[in-house]
Amino acid sequence: MIKSLNNIPLEARWNRYGHRSGVLWFTGLSGSGKSSLAIGLERILFDQGKRVFVLDGDNLRHGLNGDLGFSMEDRRENIRRVTEVAAAYVEAGFIVISAFISPFRIDREIAHQIIGENFHEVFINATIDICEQRDPKGLYAKARAGEIVDFTGISSPYEVPDNPNLVVHTGTQEFSHSLKKLTKYAETAFILDR
Ligand code: ADX
Repeated sequence: MIKSLNNIPLEARWNRYGHRSGVLWFTGLSGSGKSSLAIGLERILFDQGKRVFVLDGDNLRHGLNGDLGFSMEDRRENIRRVTEVAAAYVEAGFIVISAFISPFRIDREIAHQIIGENFHEVFINATIDICEQRDPKGLYAKARAGEIVDFTGISSPYEVPDNPNLVVHTGTQEFSHSLKKLTKYAETAFILDR
């Protein structure tokens, strides 16, 4: 993990910014709504004056993790690097919303260990059937046709969280309802004197 030089204590940053820092670690299948909810929640928290930043494939898989694919080893390395970046943002006083499939329990547990009590696992829960029906990027169809190998939920495993801090049922609830639930959770999780 990033080693703090302890020049500015974390609590001093929290007091300055008016809220705790930490990670809302979204996990769920492709098409479950992770990125849309992350962006929606980021806007709400930003408008409340909070320091907040989304980490997802769009900003990390192209640059820092551009050398990685979707084998088990590459996904694990993807999540290991995401964890370190998220930890650095937490040290800097930010609320991070990370939106990666992060299919393996062990990697989410390692992220929890590294980030500590400021780690919040959020299961963005929609069934594979619903994600496949939505297929926003047409990737499920390609995976079924064998054009994409190792596709999560089809030819690569997804390990459901055992004991997440929050579950958002995006298959059965309206987007706005899910967003409200997340907002309420975040407002409590990052309050200064909890
Ligand atoms: S993770 O498994 O390493 O956490 P990550 O969240 O970064 O995955 O990337 C998932 C996104 O990459 C999907 O939403 C999808 O758009 C795209 N993708 C491309 N190939 C695959 C694949 N084989 N399995 C899952 N997602 C894929």
